[in-house]
Amino acid sequence: MLRLAIQKSGRLSEDSLQLIRECGISFLSSSYKLKTEATNFPLEILFLRDDDIPGYVQDGVADLGIVGQNVLEEADGAHLQVEALGFSKCRLSLAVPRGDAYDSVISLQGKSIATSYPHLLGRYLAAHGVQAQLHTISGSVEIAPSIGLAEAICDIVSSGSTLLGNGLREVETVFRSEAVLIAQPNLSAEQKDLLDQLQFRMQAVRRAKR
Ligand code: PRP
Ligand code: ZN
Ligand code: MG
Repeated sequence: MLRLAIQKSGRLSEDSLQLIRECGISFLSSSYKLKTEATNFPLEILFLRDDDIPGYVQDGVADLGIVGQNVLEEADGAHLQVEALGFSKCRLSLAVPRGDAYDSVISLQGKSIATSYPHLLGRYLAAHGVQAQLHTISGSVEIAPSIGLAEAICDIVSSGSTLLGNGLREVETVFRSEAVLIAQPNLSAEQKDLLDQLQFRMQAVRRAKR
């Protein structure tokens, strides 16, 4: 039996469920149930907060996970990655209020920046020799400049509508991301065999879409 953790609700949830279904795996799901078992494959699906998934997989509480590379990298979990899945592509970007002057990343020197990705952002700023004050918040980051919490933000951009809707302009790309499959480090031989079967099906689904 394999336990697969996917995002409960958010950008990756629908795509993750669709991939599992396209792999020919059937299961019942209701938005209130946080755990379900497949009816035709030895798989249990857990619905979790995406930020919690790398930790659960690292600890072996879940055997597999589908998560954004952004979340994985922020949690220092890159070693858990099995393969990139090619969907839910997005980028972690810096953005400033639309009317603010901005030349280069140096313009952020000494500024305050709100983000849910202090680790990735800190690494990027250090690489560019910029010192800024980071405010770590777990959601609704795009509201920060308009309420006076920070002068810039660093968050995930997909369509760009959230930035647009909050009067922000994207100025730098910090990290490019897509959904990835991750696995716990100590799978049993049996579980490895099931993972192989699952990956084989996932790859077939991708090939069929090309
Ligand atoms: C990100 C980000 C915005 C949204 C941007 O959240 O925080 O809320 O996506 O998308 P857009 O450019 O299409 O408007 P995400 O779904 O990554 O996850 P979270 O809820 O865990 O922050
Ligand atoms: Zn999240
Ligand atoms: Mg968000």
